[in-house]
Amino acid sequence: MNSNKIKKRDGFRTNLGIIAATLGSAVGLGNIWKFPSLTGSNGGASFIMIYLVSTLLVGLPIMISEIMMGRRVKANAVTTMQTLSPGRQPWWLVGVAGTLASFLIMVFYTEVAGWVYAYIFKFFSASALSNNPAVTSGLFLDMIKDPVQALAWQWIVLLLVGFIIVSGVSNGIEKWVKKLMPILFVLLIFVSIRSLTLPGAMKGLSFLFKPDLSKITGITLLAAMGLSFFKLSLGAATMMTYGSYFRDDQNIPKTAFKVMLADLTVSMLAGMAIFPAVFAFGFEASAGPALLFITIPAVFASMPMGHVFVILFFVLAAVAATGAMVSLLEVPVAFFSEQFKLSREKATFITVLALMIMGSTAALSESLLSGVKPFGMSFFDLYDFLTSNLLMPIGGLCTAIFAAWVWGFPEIKKELSNQGALGNQFYIKAIYTILKWITPILVVIILANGLWPKG
Ligand code: PHE
Repeated sequence: MNSNKIKKRDGFRTNLGIIAATLGSAVGLGNIWKFPSLTGSNGGASFIMIYLVSTLLVGLPIMISEIMMGRRVKANAVTTMQTLSPGRQPWWLVGVAGTLASFLIMVFYTEVAGWVYAYIFKFFSASALSNNPAVTSGLFLDMIKDPVQALAWQWIVLLLVGFIIVSGVSNGIEKWVKKLMPILFVLLIFVSIRSLTLPGAMKGLSFLFKPDLSKITGITLLAAMGLSFFKLSLGAATMMTYGSYFRDDQNIPKTAFKVMLADLTVSMLAGMAIFPAVFAFGFEASAGPALLFITIPAVFASMPMGHVFVILFFVLAAVAATGAMVSLLEVPVAFFSEQFKLSREKATFITVLALMIMGSTAALSESLLSGVKPFGMSFFDLYDFLTSNLLMPIGGLCTAIFAAWVWGFPEIKKELSNQGALGNQFYIKAIYTILKWITPILVVIILANGLWPKG
């Protein structure tokens, strides 16, 4: 018999480890780069409101579905969907699409993470810091337009994440996220207190909390829903893969709820670390993705002790990005090692190598490949669009339909109540009803409306 079969499958060991890993996956550049920039360019509080509704009615139920199906089969996402589908129905394709999505997200995510890591080192020298956005913008453009810097930082990040993944689920992922997550929260609280105590901070707070309904369009809805998928790591087989490492006595709905709340808290804290300072110093909130790399350094440079805070801020972003990348890399690694019976070392090596090659198209999209625009977008934007606006929502939609309509209530009840051990009937019914009737309809309407805004 194959020794792989006899060896017990690795998994998370403790309750705390499960929460830290799941939250580590959810919290990432999504909170620090996407959430603030989308909120800034879509009108602030009204965008946050839609995002909240989408998180509760679309994100949370899909997150619970992915985790419960993963835990039931305890295998990579493709095998999980294959095992659960009745007869010859091709639901395994959902696993394939999710695994592909994780890979493609890594392709551009490692690039942004590379910029974040690079900034920590650049700001060690005080001369790199300036409160003039024209100067910080120069710093940023010099970096992304230099093929050597762009590639080197992406590859450093890939090697680091590969190093964590190679050590395994409990000895690699669990061990590291348990150290990283507390650091993240301490830094975040520190930086937001600094920002909130600046004179003029109130304007930033009202931007975050006072909705302006006139700012809502079909595209805003799609962006908000795309963000709720991206934020909770859904439709990319990530939660399904992590679910397969969950303990059998873990309360899934409760864990998912806690992670969702903690993730929202991180986003709001990130918003409170950024917008009050942006307004206090008279910067532009709607700077889009440039907010993180151009506006924020200039904003921090304007405040007392700015040098320290800007480094802390980018360390925080690097920590957050690392927890998310670990979960993204685990998806293809679990797939390759189980499907092709490769050792974890080999599977990690192959995946990281493939990511270095594919990733270079994203890394070089502002330099050597700046003239190549597939579908009118840079490679970088194409990967982001493909995953956030297509693969993840469609993958999530299929997961919801599969769980509620194909797998069905009796199985959901068994899995979410831990075979009857938990008395959470009421919640299970509510989750099931939302998953069956509300989630898929909302996703379809928002997708159609966002992709064909005039149709
Ligand atoms: N949730 C992560 C973030 O917000 C991104 C991510 C997406 C991670 C999909 C895993 C899977 O940064």
